Amino acid sequence: MDIRFTEEQEMVRKMVRDFAETEIAPFVEEMEEGEFPHEILQKMADLGLMGMTIPEEYGGAGMDFISYIIAINELSRVSATIGVILSVHTSVGTNPILYFGTEEQKQKYVTKLASGEYLGAFCLTEPSAGSDAGSMKTRAVKQGDHYVVNGSKVFITNGGVADTYIVFASTNPELGSKGVSAFIVEKDTPGFIIGKDEHKMGLHGSKTLQLTFEDMKVPAENLLGQEGEGFKIAMANLDVGRIGIAAQSLGIAQAALEASTDYAKERVQFGKPIAAQQGVSFKLADMATAVEGSRLLTYRAANLRALGKPCGKEASMAKLFASQTAMNVAIEAVQVFGGYGYTKDYPVERFFRDAKVCEIYEGTSEIQRIVIGKHLMN
Ligand code: CAA
Repeated sequence: MDIRFTEEQEMVRKMVRDFAETEIAPFVEEMEEGEFPHEILQKMADLGLMGMTIPEEYGGAGMDFISYIIAINELSRVSATIGVILSVHTSVGTNPILYFGTEEQKQKYVTKLASGEYLGAFCLTEPSAGSDAGSMKTRAVKQGDHYVVNGSKVFITNGGVADTYIVFASTNPELGSKGVSAFIVEKDTPGFIIGKDEHKMGLHGSKTLQLTFEDMKVPAENLLGQEGEGFKIAMANLDVGRIGIAAQSLGIAQAALEASTDYAKERVQFGKPIAAQQGVSFKLADMATAVEGSRLLTYRAANLRALGKPCGKEASMAKLFASQTAMNVAIEAVQVFGGYGYTKDYPVERFFRDAKVCEIYEGTSEIQRIVIGKHLMN
């Protein structure tokens, strides 16, 4: 089986690659210094990238899911920071409203998220509820025409800079994950408190914040779906989000492989390029093989999603394999570059730092194995 993209999808790839290389690459250093890429996101909005898969009736570009995955893949090849901002904004920041929201909620929020006027975020993880997301302690109590929400969330991608947050809170703690509900929360809601900006190993241009909710009053009309439906909303959207993280991982791995191959062809030791030394060429061969495997798994999961078929198992397989490949390929890239690879003069140390979190967020590698294992038992 070969991966064949349509003419339109190839155009998307070319357009996004050009954009990433001309508009994003020059800004990578500033993002490494912690600068949030507001201007780049504005340019991406102008190109329709902030609402690629959102139907045109809600202000999106109405494109297919594979084109979106191509975009995440190409953006991440240049900047994994941009890749994760877009992936979180789209798959878990916007899609929950598109798929589970009322018509009013879609008109009010999806249109602004799709145009890029708003940035989206997703608040599931808590200090003591990470992999065991269903054990969350954040509570939402209905009082008249609103819910009062108390609790805290951690590691929120796009935190502080996002305009809307899909917040998960328990409306019935006795029911465990079946008592979790989802809410659309606007940034300026009283009681919404922006906390510490994490000082991360990688992805320096993206924001990862703690949030606290202190008697935060959320209008009842901002309940997403039904009470108790929140955990399913989170899981269903994470299924799709994980394909985005696989594409992000693939982009990092591709970049590390390309940099290593170019360097190995130039770098001469013992009278010939190191690429011609078997120790290095075998390394490059293994890296290229793993990248190809990631590509196949990622686009296979994306294709199932595009066809509207169940893709949870394949999404987890793609995320598991591609994120581990990104990490392994980045480690080997640093090795190919030798001492230079350990300096900030070359990009491979950034790939190394950026790759690690792909094995952690949107479900650790261990969680992906749990999901895959459950599917095998069904
Ligand atoms: N789609 C729809 N419903 C689903 C589902 C899915 N993929 N997975 C589970 N459910 C439903 C189940 O059907 C079940 O309901 P029923 O009993 O009615 O059938 C209910 O949810 C509970 O399911 P489980 O018993 O399987 O739940 P669990 O408590 O054992 O947890 C888990 C399962 C897979 C481990 C889950 O907790 C999980 O995915 N944990 C990881 C959390 C995670 O990925 N966090 C990422 C944070 S977001 C992020 O990282 C974004 C970022 O910044 C980049």
